[in-house]
Amino acid sequence: MSKPKILVARAVFPEIIARLEQHFDVETNPADTVFTKAGLIEKLQGKVGVFTTGSERIDADVLKACPDLKICANMAVGYNNFDIDAMTAAGVLATNAPDVLTETTADFGFALLMATARRITESEHYLRAGLWTKWAVDMFAGSDIHGSTLGIIGMGRIGQGIARRGAHGFGMKVIYHNRSRLDASLEAECKASYASKEELLKTADHVVLVVPYTAASHHTIGAAELALMKPTATLVNIARGGIVDDAALAVALREKRIAAAGLDVFEGEPVVHAALLDVPNVVLTPHIASATVPTRMAMANLACDNLIGYLTEGRAVTPLNPTVITGK
Ligand code: 8YV
Repeated sequence: MSKPKILVARAVFPEIIARLEQHFDVETNPADTVFTKAGLIEKLQGKVGVFTTGSERIDADVLKACPDLKICANMAVGYNNFDIDAMTAAGVLATNAPDVLTETTADFGFALLMATARRITESEHYLRAGLWTKWAVDMFAGSDIHGSTLGIIGMGRIGQGIARRGAHGFGMKVIYHNRSRLDASLEAECKASYASKEELLKTADHVVLVVPYTAASHHTIGAAELALMKPTATLVNIARGGIVDDAALAVALREKRIAAAGLDVFEGEPVVHAALLDVPNVVLTPHIASATVPTRMAMANLACDNLIGYLTEGRAVTPLNPTVITGK
């Protein structure tokens, strides 16, 4: 009997392909091409499942053109590349990859915060350029992490991980803003107190963004919000491009309206706003917050679990639209 056909849309670890090949006829993408919409549609013909990453957009056009599709398994916790309503309407299951990346991503958020506040990459560029000729009292003097106020916007699992690191590891005062308040026991565990967005922006020494991207969170930080921040404050975005208005941020950094920023995600990535490339007080990384080998393996395995579970037994580990399974 022939096996069901699936597509693994990007190049992933060979162990993952081998696992999938036990159950499916797998089309891979060893060249790691990022497909255009038309290219993706062509590759998905006859496929019942697809292993996606953040670069594949699954919307109503794709669903209409790929009637055999039953499941899209995203190797990412974020799923703004999926039109969930359209998928549910088409009876296509969507799954993501939460939890397995939480601690790794929180580690990275903290690393980016430290690099930003302590001007690590800016000073390294200076050294590599041969500009370091003598010690100076204010050379790359940044701001402190310990004892400062950390403001977290988006207090999901990753936000909580960053709060714990700040409060327990660095003695920071942690304030957070979220759509809903955490229950008291979780607030106590994270040593975090709730603040309005405005209060958080006005009082935090370091602001970290960990909100999912939706129409409502588009430009959570723009010129008006940047104007509320302290001139000594830093801003870190490990959430999604589009949460920050990158053009407005570049202006604020250039005019030193805030001290510095650390960005792992960008509007229109992998293209980065030219003005951001031009300012020195920003640490720029290419969307690597979850990038450790064990975590990327765990994310890919979770996407596999979802594909195998759903296509062989009708169940999924982390469904986003479970009514496709339950029918109600
Ligand atoms: C992924 C991410 O590396 O999980 C997410 O939401 O942003 C990253 O961990 C990226 O989306 C590729 O799938």
